[in-house]
Amino acid sequence: MPVLALGYIGVEARDLDAWRAFGTDVLAMQVVERGADTLALRMDERCQRVLVQCTERDAPAFFGFETASAKALQETVGKIEAAGRKITRATERELLLRRVEDMAWCIDPAGNRIELFHGQAAGNGPLTLPRPHGGFRTGRMGMGHMVLHAEDIDAMSAFYRDVLGLRLSDYMVKPYRLMFLRANPRHHSVGLLESKHNGVHHVMFEVLALDDVGRAYDFALEKWRIGQTLGRHSNDWVLSFYAFCPAGFMMEYGWGGRLIDEATWTPREVTHGGSMWGHDRLWMDEERRRKANEVRRTTILSGLGAPLQITRGQFNEVE
Ligand SMILES: [Fe+2]
Repeated sequence: MPVLALGYIGVEARDLDAWRAFGTDVLAMQVVERGADTLALRMDERCQRVLVQCTERDAPAFFGFETASAKALQETVGKIEAAGRKITRATERELLLRRVEDMAWCIDPAGNRIELFHGQAAGNGPLTLPRPHGGFRTGRMGMGHMVLHAEDIDAMSAFYRDVLGLRLSDYMVKPYRLMFLRANPRHHSVGLLESKHNGVHHVMFEVLALDDVGRAYDFALEKWRIGQTLGRHSNDWVLSFYAFCPAGFMMEYGWGGRLIDEATWTPREVTHGGSMWGHDRLWMDEERRRKANEVRRTTILSGLGAPLQITRGQFNEVE
């Protein structure tokens, strides 16, 4: 049985205060204190989606994929072992920190710690976001998506597709290889970007109200490093911006992602760049950024667009 969704992530942090500020200002998530050296960010009915542990460095630590049950977890673990990857069972302390019934982990072909879990606890009491906010789009689609750099994109694709059971939604071949893999109706839970190095490119959270992207953008512009300006993606249709989180990778804050119908979708090549408009890639060097903006100009002139994906109760239909 394939994994259901990206359920949580973990990061290491030298400075928990930076995460309290980023989690509040930019992400608008509830900061849950978990003792002297740990804090968690809560965004929905679950107890947490981001676990921050104080260490000597700022870095991504792990990614948790949800399975349906103890049986499904065991099946996934079996597939990972059959593929020749070592499985380690969670310690009692790890289960306690993640608040899950069971967890086992392995290292993917690019060196990321991938955890498989089931039974994450609900939060204590009602969700209390730090400012007026329409909430996050999670549920069966999980916490969002992640995009990873991959030196060997084919080995990564084999792991995520053949072993974890994700399906190819679409892909890019030029100017570099990119694959978008889904675990549920969200267009992708995992993106793989062929690179000269391994690591995390970004993690995405999706909000229900468009205004919350703008509000977060205002706060991000004030104090945080922007990675990509406001823009709209050409494949998942998400309208978003990217800011660097204290762990050194980008977090995308978006709205309006399309859903994929498993019965009718066929994988396709994306030939017009990553964005319909915007998303000026400020993290790139000048030469690559100039090329990316040339691609964007061509995309804009082609007239590429897509209908807005608005959830129930978030719009008035007008003449
Ligand atoms: Fe993204």
